[in-house]
Amino acid sequence: MEHLLGIKELSVNRVKDFLDRADYYTKALQSGKWDKEKLKNKVVLTLFFENSTRTVTSFNFAGLRLGAEMINWNAEVSSLSKNESFNDTIDTLGAMKPDAVVIRHKEYGAPIKVAERLDCPVINAGDSWREHPTQALLDALTIMQEKGSLEGLNVAICGDISHSRVANSNAYLLSKMGANIRFVAPSFFKPEEMPVEGIPFYDTMEEGIKDCDVVMTLRIQKERMQQSKIPDDNAYFKDYGLTYERLKYAKPDAIVMHPGPMNRGVEIAGDVADDPKYSRMTAQVANGIPTRMAVLDLLLSK
Ligand code: NCD
Repeated sequence: MEHLLGIKELSVNRVKDFLDRADYYTKALQSGKWDKEKLKNKVVLTLFFENSTRTVTSFNFAGLRLGAEMINWNAEVSSLSKNESFNDTIDTLGAMKPDAVVIRHKEYGAPIKVAERLDCPVINAGDSWREHPTQALLDALTIMQEKGSLEGLNVAICGDISHSRVANSNAYLLSKMGANIRFVAPSFFKPEEMPVEGIPFYDTMEEGIKDCDVVMTLRIQKERMQQSKIPDDNAYFKDYGLTYERLKYAKPDAIVMHPGPMNRGVEIAGDVADDPKYSRMTAQVANGIPTRMAVLDLLLSK
């Protein structure tokens, strides 16, 4: 049985398997031709202990497009509010024998603990600032659609790196696949430990995005910060917001990405985010579906 708990532990070949299948489902969704009963009679349980728009919805689309039944468990109306422990809740849900569990949780490593308790594939939909593997896969798919391959590309990940599971999973995936990744942020957002050794760190946008093929921006994840450490939005935008002016330092055909939810006028200027010449944010959202179809297919149809 295989789980998808992070990108770090995946082999290059397994990453390629997921990306190849995601590419297959991208084309299948366009042509309308794929096995719509691939996961018939499978029941997938989503457990979102943290809010989500894109991730939970695209997992649902993905499962339904493959004929699975989706059950969305809701933390707010569950017995957690009656003081049931997390482990007891997981064991209770596990006793119902789901065919797969998709989990998002604010605690570091929560999906790993859940995988130890359940006897079905567990897919991490984001835990704390640790990993968000399906986001990294859909980001890679988006970059490959644009640039053909990941090999040798310069990718800048900008903003609140230290609280970002998206930055971590992307760092693992992109460096495994031969891209040159760098982090760009004020020093207070520099991670204590780099996910991958030797990632260059820049503290100005101009230097950091110079000659980049891809500029990825991240939200300031205030919910993971002490109130006193939250920077002022306007001052932050002035120094680190992605504007047209700053984008000139990247390659002329650079693309701009953001995992969402974005805060306009904080980490990115609204006009850059809306400009189809640069922004691939809509493509990222759309690619969430074939990517998650690929993951559900490869983990569940064994
Ligand atoms: C991200 C997340 O939840 O990790 N969003 C997403 O899944 N697309 C990023 C964020 O919350 O800023």
